[in-house]
Amino acid sequence: MTTISSNEIHAALGDLGLPTGARILMHSSLSSFGHVDGGADAVIDAVLKAVDSSGTVVVPTLTATALHSPNDPPVFDPVNSACWTGRIPETFRKRPEAIRSLHPTHSVAAIGPDAEELTSDHTFSISPCDEKSPFGKLAQLENGYVLLVGVGYDSVTTFHHVEELAAADYHMQKGFTKATLVIDGENIERHYMLHQWGTARDFNIMQPLFIERGVQKMTRIGDSEVRLLHAPSIRQITLECLRSDSRILCKD
Ligand SMILES: CC(C)(COP(=O)(O)OP(=O)(O)OC[C@H]1O[C@@H](n2cnc3c(N)ncnc32)[C@H](O)[C@@H]1OP(=O)(O)O)[C@@H](O)C(=O)NCCC(=O)NCCS
Repeated sequence: MTTISSNEIHAALGDLGLPTGARILMHSSLSSFGHVDGGADAVIDAVLKAVDSSGTVVVPTLTATALHSPNDPPVFDPVNSACWTGRIPETFRKRPEAIRSLHPTHSVAAIGPDAEELTSDHTFSISPCDEKSPFGKLAQLENGYVLLVGVGYDSVTTFHHVEELAAADYHMQKGFTKATLVIDGENIERHYMLHQWGTARDFNIMQPLFIERGVQKMTRIGDSEVRLLHAPSIRQITLECLRSDSRILCKD
């Protein structure tokens, strides 16, 4: 099995073209590298070092399930609710300097000078990935990027942001769900629109166009295929495509 260090990951991210000062949303698989000396913390250290103290790293700490609805409303505790998006985000969110956004299904954790700005309005997002959400805000920053570490386009939550922008008719549940946020031991109830699960997607359909338009750079780090995508370009190009074919991201 390939073994890789934090320093090697850092160097490879620089070679890939990840600029210092970038705002990145990272979706990841730890096992994709082979063996990482130091595990999830070593990857987190490498990525934070790559963007430098002037950059901000965001990871999805999602807690959404297909069952969440008015009949099974989510209860979210930013301290105790574990995410299902992998060992790296679960480790990242527990760092003392990480700020976790207050959203009952689509929270993120962020570290860096823009962490507060990117996460602060998420609790007021009507839908999980709207303009105020970290996904929407990052996709409007010229130095916003999505970093895919050993995972494919199916992990890119930014596509759900664009589906919300385009008001894709298969994407949202009808009506509101009363969710509970547990903040400092106090239960706060708020109304949210939740995603509707069940429509199979094929986000990979966008990849050829992204490659053609220079939106994606790719490298291998250890055994991991790593892709860097320019977030505002994901938003702009996918929105154009969705407006001309509202089902372009759906499988059938
Ligand atoms: C689901 C997913 C997280 C699984 O990836 P994974 O690599 O199998 O799992 P993790 O990233 O949680 O890493 C833990 C695994 O890494 C491996 N591992 C443990 N220590 C390791 C080390 N030092 N070096 C490398 N791998 C190690 C183990 O196999 C471990 O699994 P185990 O806990 O069952 O033993 C990944 O495929 C994925 O989809 N990630 C993106 C999620 C996302 O952002 N979704 C957005 C949806 S809109």
